[in-house]
Amino acid sequence: MIQELAIVTGRKEVAEGIFVLRFESSYISKNVRPGQFVNIRVTDGLSPLLRRPFSICRVEENQVEFVFNVVGVGTRILASKQPGDKLDVLGPLGNPFRYEEGFDTAIMVAGGLGIAPFPFLTQLIGGKNVETFYGVASAAKLWSEHLRNVHVATDDGSAGFQGTVVALLRAYLEETKLRNAKIFGCGPTKMLQALSNFAKMSEIQCEVSLEGEMACGVGICQGCPVERAKGNKKYALVCTDGPTFNCQDIVLAA
Ligand SMILES: Cc1cc2nc3c(=O)[nH]c(=O)nc-3n(C[C@H](O)[C@H](O)[C@H](O)COP(=O)(O)OP(=O)(O)OC[C@H]3O[C@@H](n4cnc5c(N)ncnc54)[C@H](O)[C@@H]3O)c2cc1C
Ligand code: FES
Repeated sequence: MIQELAIVTGRKEVAEGIFVLRFESSYISKNVRPGQFVNIRVTDGLSPLLRRPFSICRVEENQVEFVFNVVGVGTRILASKQPGDKLDVLGPLGNPFRYEEGFDTAIMVAGGLGIAPFPFLTQLIGGKNVETFYGVASAAKLWSEHLRNVHVATDDGSAGFQGTVVALLRAYLEETKLRNAKIFGCGPTKMLQALSNFAKMSEIQCEVSLEGEMACGVGICQGCPVERAKGNKKYALVCTDGPTFNCQDIVLAA
């Protein structure tokens, strides 16, 4: 892990209100793995805010990208960054997805900005088959660059299947009878709950990446608990025990 002032090298609006920021970091680009995140300090010019966590979305040589939409003050400031500006970045943090062995097909399931870790996971997963299930509110919110075999679900029916991404996945698996797959999920808690329940019932291995609120990002403030499903300790910390978890190991409360 490193804390550095990285230089912003690119900014692009890739879908309606969705931005990709690129920064330069030799250390993070070499050491980060899919599922890990960086914690970025933003400042409104008066006082620094708490750091904000973002999954790493893609790496190319010494360039690192993350994707976000504007939900509050921190992301509004990030969306105004331009090439040449500096970013106070801490990372890489957390545990990556376990993607190297034990399955033939990776099923990536994203709800909205939960797509963030999947371009990088797709990049590093090698020759395995990949099927990507991507649920968004409407077609204007879709950003499907750097993904493979994308199956789209929208709430309003403006693209792909109309309904939830988990319903789309269920229908696909009933039809294809795919064997020896592993699900990787990221998105809102309610969607991850539905996905975990489906994976458990279908006996498909499944890891989820949690994106709840977080502060220090390094296990100090105890501000990111998630209930464990088993073991002596009642809670795990999303920042240091996750953000990726086997869905059997945690209890998701929406
Ligand atoms: C490990 C991890 C990885 C993440 N990766 C990404 C990513 O790649 N791209 C991305 O866009 N976001 C990601 N997030 C969420 C992101 O960190 C928050 O959206 C961001 O901190 C919001 O900052 P803000 O200052 O703009 O909003 P704030 O002003 O802090 O909050 C604005 C509103 O958004 C709500 N909010 C804030 N954070 C969250 C959250 N995590 N979930 C639901 N509601 C929230 C607040 O309750 C409030 O109502 C990630 C979170 C975690 C924990
Ligand atoms: S965010 Fe501080 S302990 Fe996890």
